Amino acid sequence: MENLEERLKVLYTEEEIQIKIAEMAKLIDADYKGSKELVIICILKGAAFFTVDLVKKMKTPIIFEVMQVSSYSGTESTGAISIKKDLDASIEGKDVLIVEDIIDTGYTLRALRQDLLSRNPNSLKIVVLADKKERRKVEIPVDYVGYEIPNKFVVGYGFDVDEYGRNIPYIGYIEE
Ligand code: IMP
Ligand code: MG
Repeated sequence: MENLEERLKVLYTEEEIQIKIAEMAKLIDADYKGSKELVIICILKGAAFFTVDLVKKMKTPIIFEVMQVSSYSGTESTGAISIKKDLDASIEGKDVLIVEDIIDTGYTLRALRQDLLSRNPNSLKIVVLADKKERRKVEIPVDYVGYEIPNKFVVGYGFDVDEYGRNIPYIGYIEE
């Protein structure tokens, strides 16, 4: 993937992203005050970058878990997902916060949310760094949103184009 950065327009700088995440961490800490068992579920791979920065800025004690899911290709209409990497431990009775990079159609998070709710957590919330609201196909509750972004393809800070670009430290978009 040559010249990827040359094709990008900066949407949010590294500094802006960190300020935004600090604000989000503060809100989340306030909401989980008193929670003894907060399980953070980082959705691989995209959300890895965001999750690490977010939890480092939080004061609430957390258990860090990862999950990897993929949508079945060609089934955008049903939104079924398969779990490629599942949690290590039970979330029954625990407070759970799903950390995802972006919500687009909403199919991925809807399916994941339904799966996790069936495991009987005490509570389940969702945080996303970016929300492409105009693309939404199914409504699901998202508790914390970093940025509402336009319907552009974003790259960097976890967002990829065919697996490249995740390590670009800012968020850019590809100019059409
Ligand atoms: P959805 O909400 O089920 O449609 O899918 C969200 C997933 O689509 C995310 O986890 C990303 O992997 C991917 N995605 C959506 N928009 C973008 C983008 O602009 N850049 C990179 N990946 C994206
Ligand atoms: Mg993803």
